[in-house]
Order: sequence, then C-alpha cells, then structure tokens
Amino acid sequence: MAKAKAMFVCQSCGATTTKWQGKCDSCGEWNTMAEETPRALPKGATGGKGGSKIAFVSLKGQSAAPPRRKMGISEFDRVCGGGLVAGSAILVGGDPGIGKSTLLLQACAGLTGASCAYITGEESIDQVRLRATRLGLEGAPVHLASATNVRDVVASLENMPALDVAVIDSIQTMYADTVDSAPGTVTQVRTCAHELIQVAKRRGFALFLVGHVTKEGTLAGPRVLEHMVDTVLYFEGDRGHQFRILRAVKNRFGPTDEIGVFEMTDLGLREVTNPSALFLAERRGNVSGSCVFAGIEGTRPVLVEIQALVAPTTFGTPRRAVVGWDMGRLNMVTAVLESRCGVAMGSNDIYLNVAGGLRIQEPAADLAVAAALLSALSSEPVPAEAVVFGEIGLSGEVRAVAQRDLRLKEAGKLGFKRAWAPKPSTAPDKRSAKPTSGEIAVKDIGHVQDIVSLFGIDATERTRSGH
Ligand code: TYD
Ligand code: MG
Repeated sequence: MAKAKAMFVCQSCGATTTKWQGKCDSCGEWNTMAEETPRALPKGATGGKGGSKIAFVSLKGQSAAPPRRKMGISEFDRVCGGGLVAGSAILVGGDPGIGKSTLLLQACAGLTGASCAYITGEESIDQVRLRATRLGLEGAPVHLASATNVRDVVASLENMPALDVAVIDSIQTMYADTVDSAPGTVTQVRTCAHELIQVAKRRGFALFLVGHVTKEGTLAGPRVLEHMVDTVLYFEGDRGHQFRILRAVKNRFGPTDEIGVFEMTDLGLREVTNPSALFLAERRGNVSGSCVFAGIEGTRPVLVEIQALVAPTTFGTPRRAVVGWDMGRLNMVTAVLESRCGVAMGSNDIYLNVAGGLRIQEPAADLAVAAALLSALSSEPVPAEAVVFGEIGLSGEVRAVAQRDLRLKEAGKLGFKRAWAPKPSTAPDKRSAKPTSGEIAVKDIGHVQDIVSLFGIDATERTRSGH
C-alpha cells in the first residue's frame, strides 16, 4: 500500500497543493494553508465496503419538545428560545470588555437548583470572586475553576457528579496539547470547541463558549465555530452607551433575530423590559431632522429615534456618514428622493444616526429615514407625537411592512398619537392582536411624494437647492 502523502489545504477556499505556500494561489488569502494527511484506508474499504447499515425513520415521530432550564434573566431566556436546552452548545460573541463575563456570571447565579461550572482562562479566581462580590452573587452555588488545558477541562467536566451548565470563558484561551499551534488560532479553537461540545452532548449539559470578536467583526478563528454550535449569540453595544443588546443570529432551538436589552450599571447588567422608553428617553421634541421609527426586533416592537443632519458640503465630494444603519440603504433612499421627487440632496453632506446605539437592519426604516432627511433639509420638525415606518421601493412607492398593528400598539402605549405608514397589505396581519389603529391616527403614505409634500418642499425649494 502506498504511503499517504501529506497535502496542504487552503482553509479558506479548499484548494490543495503538495508544497506549503504563504499565499493561496487560488483565492489569494495569506496564511491559510494547513497540512492535512489523509488517513490511509484499509485495503478494499472503498465504495462503502465494510461499513455498517444505518437505520432510516420517517419524519413523523414521537419526540417531545426539549425541556428548558431557565436562567432567571427573562431577556436572556427569551433570546435562547425560552431557556437552555440540555446538551446544547451556545457561542456568546462580543467585543472585549462589552460584558460577556458579567452576563454569564449573572446567568450562572440565576440558575436555581442546577449544578453549574464556570471555567475561566482569562481571569484569576480572585478576579472572578471580586466581581461576584461586587454583584452580590458570592453566595451562588457556582463551581469556579481557572484552567486553560482542554484535556484537563474535559476530564473534570466528565467526572463531575452532576452538571447542568458549563461556561468556558473564553474559547480563545483554551489549548489542546495535541495540536501544534498557539491558543486562539483556527486549529486550536476548532479542536478545543469540538472536544468540549462532544463532552456536553455526551453528558447532556448546556455549554456556553465565550468568543471574542476581532476588529473586522468576525470572531477570531471562531467563524468556524458558528456551524459547530447550536446557538450563536452576539452581545453588542457601544461602550459609550450603557445599553447592551444580546442578539440571536442562529438558533437551532428558537427564533433568530430575537434581541434582549440590558443596561450596564455599577451593579452589573440590568434587564430592560421596556426598551422603547429607554431609547427615547433623551429625545427632545420638535427638533428638525429627528423622527421616531416604530421597528420590530425579533418578536418585539422597539421604538427608536432616527436623527439626520443635512448640510451644504464644503468638500468636492459630499460626505455620507451613518451610525446604526446601512450606508447602501441610505444612498438608495436619497437617490429615490432625488430622482422620483426632485428633492436635491446631491450637494449636501448627510449624517444619519440611530440614537441609543441600536443597529437597525429592517427595510421598514426607509420611510423614517426619508422623513428625518426631509425634516433636516426643510428645517421643519416631524410632529413630536408621530411615528413613521414603511419600506421604500425604487420607483418611490411605499410598501406595506409586517406587524403593522404591533408597531402601532407599541407607539400607542408610549403616548404617540399619529403615524405615517403605508396601508396594510390586503391580507390582514393574523399574528397580531386586534387592530388598534383607533387610538392612533394613521396617515396612509402610498408614495414618498406624499411625505415630501407634508414638509412643504416644493419646486422653489428644489431650485434653491440647486436643481
Ligand atoms: P466584562 O464582563 O469583563 O467584559 P467581557 O467579558 O466581555 O470582556 O465587563 C467588563 C466591563 O463591564 C468593564 O469595563 C466594567 C464593566 N462593568 C460595570 O460597569 N459594572 C459591573 O458591575 C461590572 C461587573 C462590570
Ligand atoms: Mg471576559
């Protein structure tokens, strides 16, 4: 039998070479070639010979919904789909210093009647104890250890008499002595995570892996982890603000796009049960360039303020700066305003900000952005008691968006009286409760031109702005 030859495989595109190279010829990535030795198969073991049969079953069958273990932090439980599932692996990603260790320590302490292990590879036992004391959690029955060798960690988790939840803080500090590279590299992170996930599945405890995000926005190495785990949560927020948002981007046991809102206080993270009130807390009414968007994050309505500033440019190319929204989407909205309604924005600098540090991904924010821009351009405030939502199409039409009634209901709860929104789509929104439009006067917007005229921007304005 010929000896299996070593191959170098690009970890980014999968191209193979027989020699090591610093740069992959096929995709151009640097430092992605890793050596892989194919295992030599026993003679004749090709084409499925020697394999054993697997049993197939039908789709319909008896499997109960997995039992859930609550952490006592309702925002966290909801993001996980209603609690922790035994044997599942959850990746918690986020920037360093955002509050991942604090959140998980609080979650461990909130688990009642469960056996919980917290393994730290980053901090010393004393540091974790100090934090626990500061949070008033020192009496919680958490088994704390400081370790980085994954072999020791796996052996200890395997031999604990009872274990329901384990936290590894962080996966980048763990190392497997079977692998020849530094902790935090792709191979190390993947090997350690694999071993830990295996033991979690075998013993049936929920496993939290903490992962740091690098500057480019991906977890260091851990993109590889996203498909290995059952749930991926990102803990995000602006360190300048006290809000923190826990967002589910993948969940095999619950809905994705669900968010949990927290506030960082000197006594740790506090749940925010009414995020809209918090996001609107610093709003000053009757200011031009400001507009309240009634959005949906996951299953929950969230009202946020969108602020715009439009100023004549002093540069050759006008500046566009966006915080909390998509730049491409802003360019599309300004292009529609220009070419469908004749509102000239081209010679202006545009700054757009979603107040409070929230990042919005919904296209339903288009109309609110358009309203904020028009208000900034005309110095005419959007009525303080109005909310705005709707998706703008390229021909300037405003399209209906999902969960209209839920958005209006939330706005009503927070004391808003009016809404600018597209007509509901013909099929009524069955998921939401009874229509509540009675409390709120909804102005139907079918085309962007409808709101342009609300700001009194007319042909004279257009010529003044340089058309
Ligand atoms: P930490 O949980 O250590 O972040 P991570 O594990 O994501 O790196 O949180 C660190 C920050 O949180 C730190 O800057 C201090 C702040 N913090 C508070 O403001 N209040 C608190 O009660 C605690 C424990 C931390
Ligand atoms: Mg930490």
